Amino acid sequence: MRAAIEEAVEALRAGRLVAFPTETVYGLGADARSEAAVRRVFEAKGRPADHPLIVHLASADAIGEWAAEIPEAATRLFARFAPGPLTVILRKRGDVPDAVTGGQPTIGLRVPDHPVAQALLDAFGSGIAAPSANRFGSVSPTTAAHVALELGDAVEIILDGGPCRVGIESTIVDLSGDAPALLRPGGVDVEAIEEALGRPLATTSPVRAPGTLPSHYAPRARVLTVDARQIEATVRAHAGAHLVVLGPSDVPGAPRIDLPVDATDAARRLYAALREVDERGYALAVVALPAPVGLGRAIADRLRRAAAS
Ligand code: TXA
Ligand code: MG
Repeated sequence: MRAAIEEAVEALRAGRLVAFPTETVYGLGADARSEAAVRRVFEAKGRPADHPLIVHLASADAIGEWAAEIPEAATRLFARFAPGPLTVILRKRGDVPDAVTGGQPTIGLRVPDHPVAQALLDAFGSGIAAPSANRFGSVSPTTAAHVALELGDAVEIILDGGPCRVGIESTIVDLSGDAPALLRPGGVDVEAIEEALGRPLATTSPVRAPGTLPSHYAPRARVLTVDARQIEATVRAHAGAHLVVLGPSDVPGAPRIDLPVDATDAARRLYAALREVDERGYALAVVALPAPVGLGRAIADRLRRAAAS
């Protein structure tokens, strides 16, 4: 892996793109200080230019190089959850390229908890701007093979770190305004963040997180989210449809793709399961929404967006 990291660092320094594993999903990285490199990320993803990118750092010690001010709440959250699946939105410094932040006055910062991401960031020595390494609106990649399927020739280097441990993106907390606000549920439980802050998170914020669109993370197949008790009735009501159930146990009259009950296991499996729906050519996937607590909140959020297309 050492030679691969060196090659990746050279590519980043030359303004090229590198896909790399994190504990959440694979990212498509570019030198965050290079306007031109960052623009290439948007081209490769087919992503609108006003959708800001998260800047990944080797350590929370570097946040002062990117954020104009570091509120006490940010220090507290990074102390507790970095490295880990948490992104904090802060007011940005004036020298951060506009392309990174989609022209917004804020910046998203995160310290990923993955040995390959860590090695890359350490060796690069600066911030790496990276969205999830999928085409815009599509399912996020949780293996190197998924990245290749999504981006193909658009990315020269894909560092393979195996399947992602968390499997679902980071939790995004906005600390740029008066009250801390949740912009996206994710790998760190909202309950744990509220406990660390000693106050509840607002669920509305003046800050825009353009990537949190109603339809996102979507396979080609239609996704139908239902209450767990409605699964069998839903399958019966769609008799004749080319459908599959995503879930932990067999339902009479329907094939099944495994999605475990345990939220940690389900998060890890979720995007691969959604991909499998398309790979196996189903037209409709029926899935029970988990209770919106802990990681279940993030899973329910992604399933709703997958269903909204
Ligand atoms: O786990 C993750 O966060 C993964 C890995 C690769 O780190 N990254 C990821 O990036 O999910 P992306 O670009 O797919 O989603 C980032 C979200 C988008 O909804 C974007 O709009 C929001 O974060 N975001 C980033 N910077 C922001 C900012 N300054 N203000 C508001 N929202 C921001
Ligand atoms: Mg994404």
